[in-house]
This record gives sequence, C-alpha cells and structure tokens, in this order.
Amino acid sequence: MVLTNVVVDRVLEQTTFSFPREVLREGRVSVVVPELEAYATKPWDYAPSKAPVFFNPVMKLNRDIAVLALRAYQSASGRALSVCEPLAGCGIRGVRFAVEVDGEIQIVLNDINPEAAKLTQLNVARNELADCIRVTNEDANLLMSRFAAPRKRFDLIDVDPFGSPAPYIDAAIRAVRNDGLLALTATDMAPLCGVHLQACIRKYGGRPLRTEYCHELAVRLLAGCLTMMAAKHGIGIRVLFSHSTDHYIRLYALIQYGARRSDRSVQQMGYILHCFSCLHREVVAGMFSPLRLKCPDCGFKLSVAGPLWTGRLVDKDFCASMITDAVHRNSDEKLLLKLLSLIEGEADAPVTYYTTDKICDRLKVPIPPLMQVIEVLGSLGFPAVRTHFNSTGIKTEAPASDVASIVSSFSSSKPDHVSP
Ligand SMILES: C[S@@+](CC[C@H](N)C(=O)[O-])C[C@H]1O[C@@H](n2cnc3c(N)ncnc32)[C@H](O)[C@@H]1O
Ligand SMILES: [Zn+2]
Repeated sequence: MVLTNVVVDRVLEQTTFSFPREVLREGRVSVVVPELEAYATKPWDYAPSKAPVFFNPVMKLNRDIAVLALRAYQSASGRALSVCEPLAGCGIRGVRFAVEVDGEIQIVLNDINPEAAKLTQLNVARNELADCIRVTNEDANLLMSRFAAPRKRFDLIDVDPFGSPAPYIDAAIRAVRNDGLLALTATDMAPLCGVHLQACIRKYGGRPLRTEYCHELAVRLLAGCLTMMAAKHGIGIRVLFSHSTDHYIRLYALIQYGARRSDRSVQQMGYILHCFSCLHREVVAGMFSPLRLKCPDCGFKLSVAGPLWTGRLVDKDFCASMITDAVHRNSDEKLLLKLLSLIEGEADAPVTYYTTDKICDRLKVPIPPLMQVIEVLGSLGFPAVRTHFNSTGIKTEAPASDVASIVSSFSSSKPDHVSP
C-alpha cells in the first residue's frame, strides 16, 4: 500500500502539477492538498481561495459530520449507494466517503477547475479508489442535469460551494432519487444573517433579520428555499440534520417524491415575528396567514423574517445514530461529540432562542451563569435547553418578559421573587 502510494505520487504528481503541495491526513485518508502556507504571505490573505485548488482545513468538522451523516443514512437504507459531489475541490470529502462509509459505494467527484479535477484524480489514485470514484471536470449544474433521470439519480448529492448553494439547488433536487439525501453548505452568512437583506431575498426568497438567533434563521431560510424549489417538482423534504458555525450553515434533507409530501412540506413554511424592543418573538404558521404588526407585550412594531421553514431542524433518531457511531469511531473528537450532543438536546426545543448577553446588554446587568438560568427556568415550569447555535443561547417556551426577569434576578439578591 505504502509502496503503491509512493509510486503514484512520483508518477502523477511530478508530471502534472506546478504549484506547491503537501500531504495531509484527515479522517482515515491521506490526501495531497495545496500547501496553504505558500498562499498566505500577508496576515489578511485567505489562503484557501488564493491557492490554485480550493482547500480549507477548517472545514474538517463539516466533512466529519458529512461522513457520519452518510454512514447513518447508509445503515438505515442498507443498500449500495451512489454519491455525487459536484463541487469537489481537491476531492478530500469524496475520498473520505469512499473509505469511511461501509458497504458498496459509487461516487462522482466533479469540479469546474481543471487543476482541482487533476488533484482529485491524484487523491483517488493514491487511495486506490479508481474502481469506485469517477472524476469529471465540468459545470456542476450541467453534470447534475445529466443525472436527472430515473435510475440515474444519486442517493446523496453533497453541494459544498463558495458562498451560496442557491444556484445549484434546482439541479441537485432533480438529480437526487426518491428518499435520497441532499446536503447543502452555505457560507454566505452576511446575506443569511441580515447584513445584506436584498441578497438574501434574491437568493433564498425570504427576509432575514439581524437578531441574536440569526444563525437559526439562516438554516430556516435555506430549508425554506429548498422546500419551495422542491415543491414545484411535486417533491417534499424532511430535514434530518442541520448545524451552524459563525462561518457557515449546513443542512441535510431527505428528498421525498409526491404532491402530498410536498404539500406537507409547504405547510411547514411560515414567518417569525420579532420585537426589537422587548425581544418578544412568535412563529406564524403558513405562508398566507395574517401577520400582526405590533408587539402584544410592549406595542412596538414587529419585524418579519421569512417566509422560512418553521418545522424541525433535526431528526432526533438520526442524530442519536450519528452520536453512537461517532463515539464508536472518534472517541477523541471532543468538539464533534459536544456539538452533536447539544444538537440532539435541542432537537425538540422551540423555534428561536434567547441569549443571556443580549438580555443583559439590554437590561444593563451582569451576565449570569447560563446553566443557572436554565435551572431557574426549569424550576419555574419552563423547560429550557442550551443550543449549539450560540454559546450563551437558551431555548425555552418562556415569554421574553419572564426570561428577562429571571436573568435580571441574578443581579439582585432575591432571585426567588421572580414568578412565571
Ligand atoms: C468550497 S470549494 C469545495 C470544497 C470541497 N467540497 C471540500 O470539502 O473540500 C468549491 C469548489 O467549487 C468549484 N466550482 C465553482 N464553481 C463551479 C461550477 N459552476 N461547477 C463546478 N465546480 C465549481 C471551485 O473550483 C471549488 O473547488
Ligand atoms: Zn415588544
């Protein structure tokens, strides 16, 4: 095996590439990637996009979770899988799928950049995967459209682009089989979090809001966009898993054929109304429901986010099977396990979350320990959980005014005086 790799490296690498490269281990594979240090000459340089082939080591967590999600999907479906990564970069994700997912698997890895396709080819060869990975070099939408036909469609398409996945969603939906899985990454957090309002409306068909829970809104906007794009093909979605960091969001949804399933998905669309004065928020179900204009608590005008997905963001069983598998495979991956257990804990929690820092900033009081606030909320009849979306976030059904009273009670000497 080692000897084979050495031969492949010498023959393929030295004849084909003119840019500096290095070998990297991630998960259970070893791949050749651009040597990023060579492309970060100034402190503000973002090396991944300056390199001739895109590679971002920080996305390891994203890829680790993608492997776990595909393993969970494979073990539930129990069949041979066909997978497509239409924007593959150096191919690391697809190579990891081939090596780390059990059972028979056939993968198409594609990139429009010829250097990326060449590097992917090298990584396929050095991991001895030529029998299960095919590498192509064309536009992602053209590629997916050619597979949008019965018996050609994929079990999984993983769309991991620069910025927004919106331009690829339609072709991806058409090229995923019934009950197949579609994974989407979005890194355009400025539009999705409301910094560039018009760009979000253009790309995702919904209005974002610059609230403390904007990362959750971002996932809901992406899921809403997917729902409406699928609906025109008579296809519904079921969200299996999603997660968010400061820099990107990720969504895993089952693609389910049929007008009734599609109607059920569209019924999960709606709006979130938010009061920037007292932090009251409410969910409005349905795309054509009347929206109240004034906050029922303080009378301030309400701001609207949506239309967006108001349904579940995680399937608890799917998440639990990812956790069991992660414990079994990566017992040292503490960050990954912590993230997955937070996500499992909030699977059934209400839509949106409060953050103690936002509340304390408004009330001009010190920030109390998060777990103590959660405990007091629970003791007053408001079950509450942490959220992976924000380290100071709390998901609870408690109204904003009660959460504010509980938080402020910590700065007085008599927290017992708070009543729900
Ligand atoms: C964020 S990178 C992919 C990273 C990769 N998925 C990973 O996990 O390392 C996005 C890739 O999309 C490719 N790309 C951009 N536009 C494309 C298009 N229209 N069709 C196919 N590939 C495209 C870029 O060359 C780049 O390699
Ligand atoms: Zn209000």
